[in-house]
Amino acid sequence: MDEILASQADGVLILRLNRPAKMNAITTGMYVQLRRHLKEAADDFAIRCVLIRGEGANFTAGNDINDFMADSLEVEESDGFNFLVELHNFPKPIVTIVQGRAIGIGTTMLLHCDVVVADPTAVFSMPFVSLGLVPEAGSSYLFPQLVGYQRASRIFLTGDSFTAHEALQMGLVSSVSENAAIEGYELATRIAKQPPAAVLNTKALLKSRNHDAVSMVMGAEAQLFTMALQSEEAAQAFMEFMKRRENK
Ligand code: COA
Repeated sequence: MDEILASQADGVLILRLNRPAKMNAITTGMYVQLRRHLKEAADDFAIRCVLIRGEGANFTAGNDINDFMADSLEVEESDGFNFLVELHNFPKPIVTIVQGRAIGIGTTMLLHCDVVVADPTAVFSMPFVSLGLVPEAGSSYLFPQLVGYQRASRIFLTGDSFTAHEALQMGLVSSVSENAAIEGYELATRIAKQPPAAVLNTKALLKSRNHDAVSMVMGAEAQLFTMALQSEEAAQAFMEFMKRRENK
């Protein structure tokens, strides 16, 4: 079964995380496919907008924990990091629909998306510290900029989750809707019909304030993330996740 489903309609490339039995936890192979689709979409004049969503009840439970345990690479050479770099540099608008869990990269990737629509069931969290890790995707820079230092550090340091309405109040999502899927498709289709050069230039302008700073922060985060992945703290947190699974 293809764990990334890609389809195209009305100028919109639709990418669906398709691993619902594992809450759409993202594996190395899925990052490779996501990156490839974004790379191709950037060069394809027929694609004017990308829509990302998850199949089933959740957006994504984040990076696959088994891959975290297996990875011995420098993070900056990993497929997950390469996907994030592609996302950070992607020139066309990305609309994302979030329902259920959006954990780890499921929340941090939203900071790079242009319009996020949340279902009322959406629950966001970035439990990096709880896993013995550090924030990624430039979130240690972008998230405090968005929500203020106090709220950001509280969320990062505790690993606490927050609701769709809290995300709306923070400005992490543009709307909360019972019809999030329909609204997301409708927005992506409308954006795809706008004059394409004006859309590209407007996105570039909107992103320009942070672009270089985020690239630098992503590099610094990746170095600390590499060290954290090899730490006793992370090994213990991953073992606890595995133990909870075995005891179910
Ligand atoms: N990596 C790998 N598998 C994951 C996963 C992840 N990040 N998140 C969920 N899954 C899998 C579970 O192993 C389980 O599969 P299994 O039944 O074959 O073992 C399935 O998805 C359902 O998860 P389960 O834990 O049974 O659901 P739950 O409702 O009891 O708990 C969570 C939900 C999200 C609290 C729990 O799955 C969890 O803590 N996941 C890890 C999230 C995380 O830390 N992600 C990394 C962020 S950096």
